[in-house]
Amino acid sequence: MIYSEKVMEHFAAPHNVGEIENADGIGEVGNEKCGDIMKMYLKINAGIIEDVKFKTFGCGAAIATSSIATDMIKGKSIEEALKLSNKAVVEALEGLPPAKIHCSVLAEEAVKTAIADYYRRQGIDPEPIVGKIESHCHGDCHP
Ligand code: FES
Repeated sequence: MIYSEKVMEHFAAPHNVGEIENADGIGEVGNEKCGDIMKMYLKINAGIIEDVKFKTFGCGAAIATSSIATDMIKGKSIEEALKLSNKAVVEALEGLPPAKIHCSVLAEEAVKTAIADYYRRQGIDPEPIVGKIESHCHGDCHP
């Protein structure tokens, strides 16, 4: 399998790895096929994503996509972060092998799930804003 240089770069030295204490929103998603899990933490202030960190227990492509996805939403508004698509993530990585595209979907879902969690904590129903999140996790991927 051939990975782009960008993927290798982010895999070898992923950005924004870790957790945020007292995060304003946390999203955890899993891929039922491979069992990989991604957890994303957001610090949100006045509608802006001030900080974002992630932990990915998964394949190299999932780590590279989470790394670049966190770079892409850091400092952005919630609205902009919600527009992050897995396609944009794949493009930013200069492509992914077809068998690895599903890994990039995890990053998009993790961002949306964390934002939904943020709204839920504010007592706001996230569905009209974030939309329905099609999670690949069916309940048994949470350790
Ligand atoms: Fe599981 Fe890539 S193989 S996320």
